[in-house]
Amino acid sequence: VDKIVDLIRKKVPLEEWPSEYFLVEDNIRRKDALLDNGLAPGDALRALKSPQEMVDTIKASGLRGRGGAGFSTGQKWEFCRAAVGTGANAAHYVVCNADEGEPGTFKDRVLLNSYADLVFEGMTVAGYVIGAKKGLVYLRGEYRFLLDKLNAVLEARRAAKLLGQSILGQTGFDFDIEIHLGAGAYVCGEETALLESLEGKRGVPRKRPPFPVSSGYLGQPTAVNNVETLASAALIAAKGAAWYKAIGTAKSSGTKILSISGDCQRPGIYEYPYGVTVAQVLADCGARDTQACQIAGASGLCVAPGEFGRKIAFEDIPTGGSFMVFDNSRDMFQVARNFVHFFVDESCGFCTPCRVGTTLLKNVMDKISDGHGGEYDINDAWRIIRTLKTASHCGLGQTAGNCVADTLQKFRPSYELRLNVRDFEPAFDLDSALS
Ligand code: NAI
Repeated sequence: VDKIVDLIRKKVPLEEWPSEYFLVEDNIRRKDALLDNGLAPGDALRALKSPQEMVDTIKASGLRGRGGAGFSTGQKWEFCRAAVGTGANAAHYVVCNADEGEPGTFKDRVLLNSYADLVFEGMTVAGYVIGAKKGLVYLRGEYRFLLDKLNAVLEARRAAKLLGQSILGQTGFDFDIEIHLGAGAYVCGEETALLESLEGKRGVPRKRPPFPVSSGYLGQPTAVNNVETLASAALIAAKGAAWYKAIGTAKSSGTKILSISGDCQRPGIYEYPYGVTVAQVLADCGARDTQACQIAGASGLCVAPGEFGRKIAFEDIPTGGSFMVFDNSRDMFQVARNFVHFFVDESCGFCTPCRVGTTLLKNVMDKISDGHGGEYDINDAWRIIRTLKTASHCGLGQTAGNCVADTLQKFRPSYELRLNVRDFEPAFDLDSALS
């Protein structure tokens, strides 16, 4: 502690701190197919069939993107494989999105810390399928302490012929991986802002389409996948589509890793087959007197007790992996206000609806917090949320008001306590405001 205090006093930048000062305790509480996989490095690569057969396998497995949006991984790889590179430097790329910035999410950190081989193997499978020779990991700046360890795993894989030229002695199967560090911007988790940042530019989201599968890194076809998606793809390559498809629900196959934090006795990493109920997760993590769960991060869904029977699945509650528990002692208005402050900090400032809208929403929440709010302010909040939702350039702004909309609907007393009115009726129909 003394040494750390000394570093802080001397204002030594975080990136210059020795990596042993960062405590990385994975705290895995529940393992399933992915975290309890029994694979050795290279197993997935040794099981590879032709690229088209691998596309079919990944499609048949039902694997969907684990960053939160749930796009079919097989389809993404198929599009990317079919896309044609442009210019003299035509190439395909695999990008691993390891910019895990969503508040309450730390499952990719665990995968990278303890299962890096599986992640790199998934990238290599992706490279083989889409015809890429290069993979890039975009590692969250705050995860810099993992860099040396990850580079050591890459070196070991090169030595074992699992990366580099002629992988496993197969002529023409060339693939290598580089790690790039982010610099702490939440918006760079958005795939096109991430690509801009990888290219050395400011992390501003691009317009889509074109999607990265046809025009991604350096304008070339690029498969951008989340860390957990890539690890799952390696597992499917080794164990087969039918095995994977049998886990989870009909529309959400496989398992989901949840990062559980907040008011519970056993916070940590839990891996569940899709379809697990919120109530089951709460029971397992030792949550008591729970009044809310914030699922899928600050931009996600605030779930109240009446909804604890709902399921973690793409057809019900999709999530990138964040599960924050709030017990009865918490003030849900302040939780939402805190999230709004986060979005003000993290808005990239490129588009007006998000840059101005998040600040206006913060001002309304601060005014209500100070006891100066009234019915006008609630209606004002709706207007701002609608503008954010409909006019923002990317998902950051589009979802920044979710926390206020959710808590206003589900935890209205926490707002009423502070307002100079009771029983207010928002002037806007919520569904039309948010649809
Ligand atoms: P999206 O649904 O627009 O796209 C998902 C993926 O599918 C992207 O890779 C996109 O390129 C691809 N895609 C979509 N349509 C396509 C098409 N027609 N052709 C080819 N590819 C296509 O979702 P988006 O905006 O990329 O991500 C939003 C999600 O990110 C939200 O669900 C949110 O929960 C999650 N999120 C995750 C965070 C984390 O830390 N993991 C942080 C913040 C948000």
